[in-house]
Parts: sequence; structure tokens; C-alpha cells
Amino acid sequence: MKIYAVYNLKGGVGKTTTAVNLAYLSAMDGARTLIWDLDPQGGTSYYLCVKPAIKGGSKSLVKKKTDITSYLRMTGYPNLDMLPSDISNREMDHQLRKQKTPDEALEKRVKPLRGMYDTLILDCPPDLSMVAENVFQMAHVLLVPLIPTTLSLRAYNRLVRFLVKRRSNKRLKVLPFFNQVNLNKPIHQVVTKNVRAKHPIFLQEAVMDSNVIEAMGVKRAPVFTFADKSNEAEVFRRLWAEVKERSQHG
Ligand SMILES: Nc1ncnc2c1ncn2[C@@H]1O[C@H](COP(=O)(O)OP(=O)(O)OP(=O)(O)O)[C@@H](O)[C@H]1O
Ligand SMILES: [Mg+2]
Repeated sequence: MKIYAVYNLKGGVGKTTTAVNLAYLSAMDGARTLIWDLDPQGGTSYYLCVKPAIKGGSKSLVKKKTDITSYLRMTGYPNLDMLPSDISNREMDHQLRKQKTPDEALEKRVKPLRGMYDTLILDCPPDLSMVAENVFQMAHVLLVPLIPTTLSLRAYNRLVRFLVKRRSNKRLKVLPFFNQVNLNKPIHQVVTKNVRAKHPIFLQEAVMDSNVIEAMGVKRAPVFTFADKSNEAEVFRRLWAEVKERSQHG
């Protein structure tokens, strides 16, 4: 089971939007896919029309009181299941810190899912908490959406420094990419061009600022379900292809 986390310390940069669309594409590839909404805001659960609640809340989830498979929900899309959010996820950090190995608790928890799914996509909350530490521990790929501004880059650099210092999960591959790009803004033009040219770690594919993507909030569905022929759908397909390719190779 390959684990992709969509993460950024910054909020509102497109983590949930990306997680939902890439999970849909993974499922369309024929891979058995699970998306886990770790964010108490429950954005992924909202987009995929799954009730944002788990029995016993994050306490039960972290403490292994219940079989993890009992939290799984179908999304209605073939091959795509979800582990929904719960408002108590805001206390997950506290629950994790009470465990013997706090930063490995979620990795242990997903073990029974390994034979059930080919792909696990984590939609992460925007913080650098113990939940994030667990994500860094269990993920193979950390996809980092960034709006091309100087402050975003600063936050990204801080994240990279933190990960280098932490060093525990050596297999973790960090793949940053630009989202909500508006080339009418000079700063977006300069940042996207310079950064991608200088730092090959950045994905070449970038997602534009787009009304079609924004419409996911009204449609409550991945873009492919209501705008399959759009440029935006095509961009997400190329992004997913690049992510898969880059996840396999150095
Ligand atoms: N490429 C895009 N074009 C236009 N709007 C976008 C794009 N990507 C995301 N958005 C919009 O920006 C807002 C924030 O997106 P999203 O919820 O995916 O961010 P997030 O990083 O998950 O936020 P949070 O940190 O609060 O979880 C949403 O209204 C979403 O529709
Ligand atoms: Mg989100």
C-alpha cells in the first residue's frame, strides 16, 4: 500500500482539493484506494459527501479500541473508500502523545489496511503537530501544494529544514508543486518560473487558479465528475501521472 500525504503547514493552499482529485484518479486507475480525512475541518468528507463522524472519535481510533476497518465508508465511486474525519480529530494530537511511541501510532494503526488497499491518500490538517509527525513517519510521498508567493516558499523551506533535522523516515519523498497559479500576477510568474528552473524537486505540472476547481465546493465532487473534458481535469491527470512517475524514481 503506497501512502501519499497531501500536506502543508500553511492553510488554504489546496491540500483537500488535491487529495480528493488524486484519490479519484487513483481509483480510476483501478487501484483500491482509501482517502483518510485527518483534518477536523472535514473538507474531504464534505467533498465526497461522507458524514464526518467516526464512532468513539479520535480517542477510540488512536487507542485501538475498535477495529480500524469498522470506520471505513464507501464513497459511491468505484474503488474509492474513505476514512472520514471527526470533529474530535482536533484532539488527536493529545491522544497520540499518550501512546508509547507517539509518532508511530498511526502507522501501526493502518497496518490491517495494507492488504485491503493499493493506495492510501492522507488529507492533512495545516499544522506541525504530532499528527503531522505521524504522517511524516508513515507516508512514502509528501505532496506539498504551494501558492507561488514568497511567504509560501518560506514556509516550505522551514518544513524542509524540519524534515532534514528529523531524519527518521528516510524513504519519505517530498514533492512540492504550485497550485492556484495566476499568471496575471507578476509574483506568480516570477516564482513559478525561477523556482521550477532552479529546483528540479518541484513538479513541472502546476494547477491554475480556476473557477472549475473552486466549483468542487458547490458540486461536492471531484472535477472529473462534472468537468471531465476541462483543462483542469487534464492538469490533474498530468499531475497524478507525474506524481506516480516521480514516486517510483529518484
Ligand atoms: N487551483 C485552484 N483554483 C481555485 N480555487 C482553488 C484551487 N485550489 C483550491 N482552491 C480553493 O481554495 C480553497 C482552499 O482549498 P483547500 O480546501 O483545498 O485548501 P486546504 O489546503 O485543504 O485548506 P485547509 O488548510 O483549510 O485544510 C477552497 O475554497 C478551494 O475551492
Ligand atoms: Mg484541507
